[in-house]
Amino acid sequence: MGLTRLRGFQDLIGPDARAVSVVEDCARAIAERHAMHEIRIPLIERIELYQRSTGETSDVVEKQMYAFTDRDEAETVLALRPEGTPGVVRAYIEAGLDRSEPEQRFYYSGPMFRRERPQKGRFRQFHQFGVEIFGRSDAACDAELLIMIDEIRRELGLALEFQVNSLGDAQCRPAFRAALLEWGHANLDKLCEDCHQRIERNPLRILDCKIDVKVAESAPSSLDYLCEACRKHFAMVETLLTQAGVPYVVNPRMVRGLDYYTRTTFEVVSGAVGAQSAVVAGGRYDGLVEALGGAPVAGTGFAIGVERIALALEAAKYRVKAVPDAAIIAMGEAAVASAMEIAQRMRSANLRVEVLSPERGLKSLLRRADRIGAHYALIIGENELARGVVQLRDLRTSSQRELAQSEVTGAIVSEPAAATGG
Ligand code: HAM
Repeated sequence: MGLTRLRGFQDLIGPDARAVSVVEDCARAIAERHAMHEIRIPLIERIELYQRSTGETSDVVEKQMYAFTDRDEAETVLALRPEGTPGVVRAYIEAGLDRSEPEQRFYYSGPMFRRERPQKGRFRQFHQFGVEIFGRSDAACDAELLIMIDEIRRELGLALEFQVNSLGDAQCRPAFRAALLEWGHANLDKLCEDCHQRIERNPLRILDCKIDVKVAESAPSSLDYLCEACRKHFAMVETLLTQAGVPYVVNPRMVRGLDYYTRTTFEVVSGAVGAQSAVVAGGRYDGLVEALGGAPVAGTGFAIGVERIALALEAAKYRVKAVPDAAIIAMGEAAVASAMEIAQRMRSANLRVEVLSPERGLKSLLRRADRIGAHYALIIGENELARGVVQLRDLRTSSQRELAQSEVTGAIVSEPAAATGG
């Protein structure tokens, strides 16, 4: 067996890795503007954490966990994190924040692992950029999350659809659950095999029935069962979204695959990434902190599927490739030190610079400069060295001029096309 990568796992090389970073950097900058703090949590946790939060009957816990037994005496069963929310809640409780300073705003970023059937936009290792806010039970906080996602969307220039719903709370959910159960039994012959199992264990999931979308359309809607408080909360979310100019649709069939949600839930979908169209998802989880042993503190959040947004960027022809501003060519050993020094000066001015190998000839180095897409080639030979100058060749126009070494950075920076980092 060759040493190839595993199915559903990806090597992200060059522009592919950069597309992921573009999404993460954009989300991070916007999270910082929303006064959020970074949190970094382990990739591995006890499996119980996910069983008790993501949910025993969720597909994620039931079928998709990478779990293994540790070599400790207790033979603890561990799992690679399939999502970030449970670990963030655990860390929040473990740090005592639920009691000392319950209102907290976190963001995180990193790989998640789910043993799903790989397809376009669905991987076994993927990246999420997530946000979790604790101690805020108001609708404005839910609206802020959606506004934030809209800011990310706009900054990246993407067209996405926002779908929102409310699943009610501990007070009104049981009536909705009972209505679904009754409807499910009455329509059992029309539902898929999976739904026959789901119906007793987790009736909400039958709205995800893949066999017949039309059948699900006749199912009860969660919105019809909301209690007064949940109805008011949802109406406020809608008002605030409208006021902020975030276009959205209400999708009363959206139930989300994870068990901890209460009240507001949402999915943001893209038409450009194939069947796996949910690029961001989240919602409120007011009972989760308490269920995991903490104080009764409200929670709400979302996670961006970073690769899926990167796919949407690719479809929108977003330019993610970063090309060097300049390639520096030192002809002969004597010129190497000067080449390195000029490169440092240019990098301090935020230019992207590669010093090419002094072991190759001019023709081959110019070919390399061209291949890496450099805008300029800077050539320093013995003659230039002696006179304190460089040859600056614009590789896009093939024009060349001589400049004093001290002038070259300024000349490139003042060029309107200086492509720093782009
Ligand atoms: P989720 O819907 O399971 O929610 O995942 C969030 C996003 O992660 C999805 O919308 C999708 O873009 C991406 N994603 C999920 N699975 C895969 C996969 N196999 N391959 C590629 N991308 C994937 C959560 O994980 C919740 N923790 C979100 C949340 C945070 N709710 C409240 N706070």
